[in-house]
Amino acid sequence: MEKYLINPNQKEAIINKDIYGSFSEHLGRCIYEGIYVGENSKIPNVNGMRKDVVKALKEMGLPVLRWPGGCFADEYHWKDGIGKKSDRKKMINTHWGGVTEDNSFGTHEFFELCRQLGCDSYVNGNVGSGTVQEMSEWVEYITFDGVSPMAELREKNGSKAPWKLKYFGVGNESWGCGGNMDPEYYGCLFKRYNTYCRDYKAGEHILRIACGPNVDDYHWTKEVMDKVKNYADGISLHYYTLPTNNWHRKGSATVFDGNEYISTICKAYRMEELISNHIAMMDSVAPWKKMKLVVDEWGTWYDVEPGTNPGFLYQQSTMRDAIVAAVTLNIFNKHADRLLMCNIAQTVNVLQSVILTDGKKMVKTPTYYVFKMFKEHQNNTLLGSFLTTEKLVSKNDGNKEFPQLVESASMDENGVIYSTIANTSDTKKAKIKCQLADTKVKSIKAEIITEECHALNDFDKDEKVFIKEFTTFRALKDGFTAEIPACSVVKFTIER
Ligand code: AHR
Repeated sequence: MEKYLINPNQKEAIINKDIYGSFSEHLGRCIYEGIYVGENSKIPNVNGMRKDVVKALKEMGLPVLRWPGGCFADEYHWKDGIGKKSDRKKMINTHWGGVTEDNSFGTHEFFELCRQLGCDSYVNGNVGSGTVQEMSEWVEYITFDGVSPMAELREKNGSKAPWKLKYFGVGNESWGCGGNMDPEYYGCLFKRYNTYCRDYKAGEHILRIACGPNVDDYHWTKEVMDKVKNYADGISLHYYTLPTNNWHRKGSATVFDGNEYISTICKAYRMEELISNHIAMMDSVAPWKKMKLVVDEWGTWYDVEPGTNPGFLYQQSTMRDAIVAAVTLNIFNKHADRLLMCNIAQTVNVLQSVILTDGKKMVKTPTYYVFKMFKEHQNNTLLGSFLTTEKLVSKNDGNKEFPQLVESASMDENGVIYSTIANTSDTKKAKIKCQLADTKVKSIKAEIITEECHALNDFDKDEKVFIKEFTTFRALKDGFTAEIPACSVVKFTIER
């Protein structure tokens, strides 16, 4: 029997709602078809946005959305995406399939999407192929309320009022697709571009995100930190979970054996080491610990579904991905003190998506249900908690060990406690006994997502993976005992 302690007196940090964010790039069928179908589409829409997708994302509790990329951001010229649609300039999306981008989804459409979703905005600017003036004018166009060339242009294009821009990214993956720069050079460019991105509204600071490292590139973190430490609010980290670590043969999203399953989960746990080490490196440069980490791209990355465009990165999603999501979100919660925002890649039809579409059809993936289950953590207080656990071993990773169980616990403003636990083993259940310090339990209810690890939700089939009520636990006066099934994610809601 594993021991699980939750201490409601140990209030660690506020869990920023934005660590439950998502990322929508002009890539494959994410924006076009997945989110935006245009006003004249037969697919039910409001101002061009799919009604079914918007409703699902709202129910999932999406707090913030990143746009327009990714690699696309560094070849995106925002002025091509405003004004009358038929006059908008076309471009080649060179990163993603070489398809023609007609720019029918631009700045106005993005902020309309955020309005419909009721979520905050994260716009990523172009350092790779854009100018300082272009970036400066974009921020003016989005946020300036008054008489100015960009505010007048915005009004001419139909929006008199400015929008609220919460986060602005100055470049993306500048170490790679965003310009193949060295960290020192990028750090200087950040300062230059960022200087002219003004905070126009008194008392409203746009949070500036600097391009951070790829996976474990601690040198990049150190050098960029050195330059941006007094100017940026956050520095981004990108980490994708590839079952094989081989970019040319990543593995299938749906066909995998037990060793590959375990290896995927083992690699997802690497997020813990990366967050801790990058924060340590950031703090070695700026020991006042004000800089936040932003994991603005994370998720599983497999080979594309057979028969689909390799440039579109379309993959299905199984219960294995749900476990990866639960491991990652619990790790994020535990680092609430230093994480400002995180964005799963991506929202619809690309990589570890929460939603898949096929024409007018839509499915919610197992990952969708994990986000929905965890949404109560948003803006809660992280509590001190500890769970003993067996270790699992990944043969494909040199017998590396990782915890079978992973958890986090938080408390809302009414004192209700939420505990989310994942059992990452695909074969072994686990018994736990939970005790809450200084607590008399009034009531407990629980929910579960569980299925065999290959289970998925597919078009034209009954939904297989979703949230169900979980009843096989026993309430105690100060906690509970429970048997957590293999390959499952469980949430306990505890009233005191
Ligand atoms: O999410 C797909 C791509 O992965 C993004 O465009 C890029 O930033 C990263 O390499």
